[in-house]
Amino acid sequence: MKALDLKRLNIAILGLGNIGTGTYKALDMNGGHIKDTTGLDIAVKKIFEKDVDRDRGIAVDKGLFTQSEEDVFGDPDIDVVVELVGGVDFATSLMLKAMKAGKHVVTANKAALAANFEELTQTAEDCGVMLRYEASVGGGIPIIAPLTTSLLANRYDEIMGILNGTTNYILTKMSDEGRDYADVLKEAQEKGFAEADPTADVEGEDVANKLSILMSLAFGKRVPPGEIPTKGITEITKQDIDDAEKEGCVIKLVASAFRQGDGDVSCFIQPTLLNREHPLASVGNEYNAIYVKGNAVDDLMFYGKGAGPLPTASAVLGDVIEIGRAVK
Ligand code: HSE
Repeated sequence: MKALDLKRLNIAILGLGNIGTGTYKALDMNGGHIKDTTGLDIAVKKIFEKDVDRDRGIAVDKGLFTQSEEDVFGDPDIDVVVELVGGVDFATSLMLKAMKAGKHVVTANKAALAANFEELTQTAEDCGVMLRYEASVGGGIPIIAPLTTSLLANRYDEIMGILNGTTNYILTKMSDEGRDYADVLKEAQEKGFAEADPTADVEGEDVANKLSILMSLAFGKRVPPGEIPTKGITEITKQDIDDAEKEGCVIKLVASAFRQGDGDVSCFIQPTLLNREHPLASVGNEYNAIYVKGNAVDDLMFYGKGAGPLPTASAVLGDVIEIGRAVK
């Protein structure tokens, strides 16, 4: 086999929280393998983060840390900016600055994307850079790439699924182990599944962000997350779960968007009673599943870990590699 020409790809990571640390770890774990299989030597050149000393369970070169935007956006050697600071306004402004400075951007930030989808995608186009966000929906599950590449021959008729790992973890543990809601939520936070403010998970806002992104891509219909009828899991009690079990059912937080007879698209997010035989009923813990119906391909189901540092890092680095292969 012909040896690959090695190409250096410099990245900056903005934010070294759960997902940033997972991305750093995944690169540490698989950087050599990525180099061997793709020819891309991916190097972290800067880390934009103020908390230098936090114990992250991995040694990080302190010399990489900076709090200066200029150090990142003004460095001509940085090819890709990986935005993992979370939140909406600050993260959006960082992504816009990065793209305007000619950097390609990878993000896992569904809240910023859902809030500012047109501005971010239009800026990428105007600046001639790539904006990739596979990790924003479904954690490690490849769903953005299939919807925007391999399945483009279809008219999409329906997208439905479990899009939040934290709430699915809570519902699973309450159901299977009879555990208490608050206790399981704490565990989900410790495992790095939950948002910085887990209200976004349990109230369904995180799912609304993800469904809004999927609807933009699949239906070309922009529905701001705040306009999606959304009910979270905060009112689900142990009694509800026991009652569901007696009927041979489970309760899942289901997101749904579908084309109606007149072509218009409807959507909602709500806790839903599913018969145990239903394909989504067996999706447990932090796993997500996304059902897609296309008018040529028919039914598809995407399944995998929808939350957690390493699964999410897999999607983040996949985007980095895609960019590296396109531009180097
Ligand atoms: N808090 C999110 C979840 C993280 O639990 O699904 C992944 O988007």
